[in-house]
Amino acid sequence: MISNLALSVPKNSATEARRRDFSSSGLAGLLNKPLRPHLFFNTERLGPDVSLFTLFQMKLTIIGSGYVGLTTGACFAEVGHEVMCVDNDAKKIETLLRGEIPIYEPGLADLVTQNVAAGRLSFTTSTEKGVDHGDVVFIAVPTPPNPDGSVDLKFIEKVAREIAPCLKSYKVVVDKSTVPVKTGEKVAETIQRYAPEAEFDVVSNPEFLREGSAVADLMKPDRIVFGSNSDRASALMKKVYEPFVAPLLVTDINSAELIKHAANSFLALKISYINAISEICEASNADVELVAEGIGMDSRIGRSFLNAGLGYGGSCFPKDIAAFVAISDQLGVPFDLLKEVQKINRRQLDRFIERIREKLWVLGEKKIAVWGLTFKPNTDDLRCSVAVELVERLVAEGAEVTAYDPKGMGRIGELAVGSKIHLASSPEAAAKGAEALVIATEWPEFAHVDFRAVRDSMLAPMMFDGRNLLDPDTMRRHGFDYHGIGRGI
Ligand code: UDX
Repeated sequence: MISNLALSVPKNSATEARRRDFSSSGLAGLLNKPLRPHLFFNTERLGPDVSLFTLFQMKLTIIGSGYVGLTTGACFAEVGHEVMCVDNDAKKIETLLRGEIPIYEPGLADLVTQNVAAGRLSFTTSTEKGVDHGDVVFIAVPTPPNPDGSVDLKFIEKVAREIAPCLKSYKVVVDKSTVPVKTGEKVAETIQRYAPEAEFDVVSNPEFLREGSAVADLMKPDRIVFGSNSDRASALMKKVYEPFVAPLLVTDINSAELIKHAANSFLALKISYINAISEICEASNADVELVAEGIGMDSRIGRSFLNAGLGYGGSCFPKDIAAFVAISDQLGVPFDLLKEVQKINRRQLDRFIERIREKLWVLGEKKIAVWGLTFKPNTDDLRCSVAVELVERLVAEGAEVTAYDPKGMGRIGELAVGSKIHLASSPEAAAKGAEALVIATEWPEFAHVDFRAVRDSMLAPMMFDGRNLLDPDTMRRHGFDYHGIGRGI
């Protein structure tokens, strides 16, 4: 049994050199050329007659071909594994079989196409086929929130039940979905109940990928974590991840599950911390951007996730923080610090809307341009997007909103607010005739428009930058009445 054992990929000079090689390619490099990290790997360890490709190739199955499952499957195939992705949504599988990708994620479409063509990536709706195929079976199904913030585990439980009768030989069943601590135990109990004779181990393997850079995050991870209580399962998991050059931490199952929630909560805490500072900056006429630079230069703190703004959104942070709060309550250890993180996050949007109201007085009948709808740049994902919530609240107060988003407009029609706003074909077109311009998502292209022309086309040059994307002095020189977050009044 391997428990609480920390392992690292050996840091010899050859590995280090390749690590640099790989990282220097950056995301653009990653996306422009085929990804074959195993070619950078430590060949001298393997001896001259061993084919790297054969050595790394394993049969893997991913159940759940959504955001995490599909990206993970494509990246596993890219490093040489033979991957079968399963989903009970026949339409989604048909789409994938036609070579279309149901989500927007930079680099993913190429990866899927190339690996399907190479015969390393396939799709099916049959759990039985999938379980037969893989020596390691990953569960990557949704874990939606219950109304009280706790996690609804019905999809995980269902997959565990479905896997059980399909287990004809030893398999490792890996939970990749984000789940509360102790879920692994429940999955193992469930499989055991429905297949008492089956030979299997359950492993927890949290993912840390971010939307918009998921391919790069998976191909070049900061770390790989898995929790296992079995040597046999751990050996197979190490083989799965051998082509990836990254530090590996092997823990017990419960610790791995906690690592995921603790990591996301800490990142959310960092965001709420700087957002709380932004409020103090506004009250004291200081600049939160400079404060973030100053504290971020301390290597113990770091600059990342200290961008003040409208607060965190997306399909992970709001849900995961609520889940961690609920689990801690259930365990009898209330996590009050995280409750404060949630409060600060909600207050950021309230304060921002209050600021717009202060300046425009009445929002009813005001023409407001909103740049950005997605929860962050480089994705088409609108789930729990603070930008969408902002638009909903402006519309609720009677404002006439015209929005533009580079990738998110295709999906806005699926939401109730979609029919209540106008959509423009460009940022400039959205701003035309507006009495205020709001930046709700920090798409880089918003920083490169002709701001003089934008100002001239507006009815009044009021600008509310909810993501501190732009330089206040430059915008003021262009004639805007600029208001950012935490940048004095
Ligand atoms: C997050 C985690 O980063 C990832 O490790 C985990 O696997 C899934 O959840 P993701 O939700 O894709 O990833 O986005 P992320 O880049 O973390 O941003 C989350 C939210 O925080 C976004 O709304 C973003 O705008 C906001 N954010 C992020 C800030 O407001 N300030 C920051 O400094 C960073």
